[in-house]
Amino acid sequence: MCGIVAYIGKKNAFPVVLKGLKRLEYRGYDSAGVALLSKGNLLVYKKAGKVSNLEDYANQFDISGHIGIGHTRWATHGLPTDINAHPHVSMDGTIALIHNGIIENYDSLRKELINQGYVFKSETDTEVLVHLIDNISKKEKVWFGEALRIALHYVIGAYAIVAISKDYPNRLVAARKSSPLVVGIGTEGDFYLASDASPIVEYTKQVVYLNDEEIAVIDLENDGLKLYNIGDQQKTPYIQQLELELEALEKGGYEHFMLKEIYEQPRSILDCFRGRLNTNEGWVSLRGIREYEDKMIQANRLVIVACGTSWHAGLVGEYLIEDLARINVEVEYASEFRYRNPIIDERDVVIAISQSGETADTLAALELAKSKGATILGICNVVGSSISRITDAGSYTHAGPEIGVASTKAFTAQVTILALMALTLAQKKGTITQSALHTMLAELESIPNKVKRVLESNGHIERIAAQYKDVSNALYLGRGNSFPVALEGALKLKEISYIHAEGYPAAEMKHGPIALIDENMPVFVIATQGNSYEKVVSNIQEVKARKGKIIAIVTEGDIHVREIADEVIEIPETNECLVPLLATIPLQLLSYHIAVMRQCNVDQPRNLAKSVTVE
Ligand code: AGP
Repeated sequence: MCGIVAYIGKKNAFPVVLKGLKRLEYRGYDSAGVALLSKGNLLVYKKAGKVSNLEDYANQFDISGHIGIGHTRWATHGLPTDINAHPHVSMDGTIALIHNGIIENYDSLRKELINQGYVFKSETDTEVLVHLIDNISKKEKVWFGEALRIALHYVIGAYAIVAISKDYPNRLVAARKSSPLVVGIGTEGDFYLASDASPIVEYTKQVVYLNDEEIAVIDLENDGLKLYNIGDQQKTPYIQQLELELEALEKGGYEHFMLKEIYEQPRSILDCFRGRLNTNEGWVSLRGIREYEDKMIQANRLVIVACGTSWHAGLVGEYLIEDLARINVEVEYASEFRYRNPIIDERDVVIAISQSGETADTLAALELAKSKGATILGICNVVGSSISRITDAGSYTHAGPEIGVASTKAFTAQVTILALMALTLAQKKGTITQSALHTMLAELESIPNKVKRVLESNGHIERIAAQYKDVSNALYLGRGNSFPVALEGALKLKEISYIHAEGYPAAEMKHGPIALIDENMPVFVIATQGNSYEKVVSNIQEVKARKGKIIAIVTEGDIHVREIADEVIEIPETNECLVPLLATIPLQLLSYHIAVMRQCNVDQPRNLAKSVTVE
């Protein structure tokens, strides 16, 4: 996700900010920029691509100045281009601003500002902020810091913001809501700000973590740092001593990126549906595919093409869309689809699911579908990726960069998008009542907190992992939309611990795999409350009768499975359609701990690449 760095003090700001941006490169980004106050001028340099691009470009100029802000952008609204890169500047060139987060109501704010004569240069939600601050500053005749505070009352969404103005050459203002922002207290009366402490730790270990809806005003001529809430009440800064070293900081204090990304899922699922549903008003909408909803409803069928984990998400999507919207869905391995001369024409809609947006087989499958006249849509995590660029339309998952090769938060984000898609189509087609829709939307909004509750079982799951870390094989079973979860759980174990594992529909076990069952075969079963619960319990008993070991994922409070399984992992009750979002989490953690105990390279497993851009 985006990275923020800023400096105000006696040092030359540009080298400090640039080095700080390099410290944040691990977060993943696609463009970078800086703004500096130098000799009374506001200098802004920004480039698509790597920080080194920006450095080469900016070094052509005479850059001095003691206040600077810098940003690495992970595109959410608008392609990764020079224009869309931050900082964004007010029309009169006095205020520069950088932002990490999503402004949900940017559309309405943008329209209002355009009506007042503002001219937008970029496609970003962020640019709305700088024009809004300028507008308020001029209307209310207040300085830009006060205008920023007032502006935040009109903003819905998540933000970490830093702004400077050439009219106030000794001041810097920052604000935070849902997106982290840290203030480092320098040793020479100077201050460092960043999205996390990694750009700060080499200068100081004294930090203040801004809380939600807090504003930091740093004025070198008047008392340095002051904190306010957006109601303008002054607050005492709580200065903490940084304990973590740099390397640990980049992983957010987690041992591996994969674990960090597993724990990011409450936030990434929330970011995925943020601004795309409103339970109280009873609407759900994927803006990116809105004009294709009729096409999808009238389609001969929806064909989902994907690979690996994304293919598993597609299978969950099949259950969701067919069950809720009653539209025919087929899910295909992209690598098979592209070579089997499929029957596809203009009556079909082909949907590619891809975290990277660069997977060669998925891209080729789309190109084939396009050549046969189909409508092609995309569900991607990387803005501006190849798949997102060739599709007619699509939706971004907003999961933030996924660094670990084993996909975790991207999977749950893809399933979230597919749930939103199914509900959108069901509402449009009238296959869901308004009250049922309300119930589903409310349940979807409760998922992030329920994921947090599942994550609290990490210690219990780690203890179970220790019992099975030395097995050679494992079987994963599920029914209904938990069958793809079984496949995904097996893939996770395979790809990071190198243990052979198979996912199977639970009922299929008696058609062969049951021959594998003995006391050395752990069987991981998703046995949550739902239509097929009793049948899954029977499958568990079949395994137990052959001395197989059962580790069951059950609904909180389950007592029946608990009596027959060797281990149970509880997840909160939820609508059966949304069980995959919760049941996947324990399997991610289980695989992670087993891989760590086997001393495997969790973030970069052998033989694997994060994006398979070759056939
Ligand atoms: C999943 O953990 C793997 N990293 C792999 O299966 C991945 O899902 C697959 O290569 C598809 O990648 P994509 O989502 O970027 O297209």
